[in-house]
Amino acid sequence: MRVYLGSDHAGFELKEQVADVLRDLGHDVVDIGPYTDESVDYPDYAERVARAVASGEAPFGVLICGTGIGMAIAANKVPGIRAVQASDPEMAKMARMHNNANILTLPGRYIDKERAAEVLSVFLSTPFEGGRHQRRIDKIGQIEQSAE
Ligand code: RB5
Repeated sequence: MRVYLGSDHAGFELKEQVADVLRDLGHDVVDIGPYTDESVDYPDYAERVARAVASGEAPFGVLICGTGIGMAIAANKVPGIRAVQASDPEMAKMARMHNNANILTLPGRYIDKERAAEVLSVFLSTPFEGGRHQRRIDKIGQIEQSAE
């Protein structure tokens, strides 16, 4: 599966590790940067990954900043994106099952590689349940349309 990956400086170290984890799992990783730990602005990277996912270039994206919070806020501004910050496998699972989340954001300063690998693996392998949850996702889409 193709996965778009990006971070800011605070998420850079974990991004490098996550890229290896994703490749080991057999995924096609598109790493949009940054490629050093020099200070950058997380919305720039959030937007690029979010637009790639929203336009169908990949089913999933992963964004990493210090907390994962700024990345989630920024990515969720792009219509069609449902980005969730999760550092717990159960939350990652629920985000897929009930919310059909398409971007996972991770807190680079608060999670280690092993935990990130666990969260990622659950996120990427859990299917959306559909049914009553689809109706709710559709309502989120209606909110997006009414805001345009
Ligand atoms: C950068 O210092 C930090 O603010 C950023 O990585 C992120 O945590 C924002 O939400």
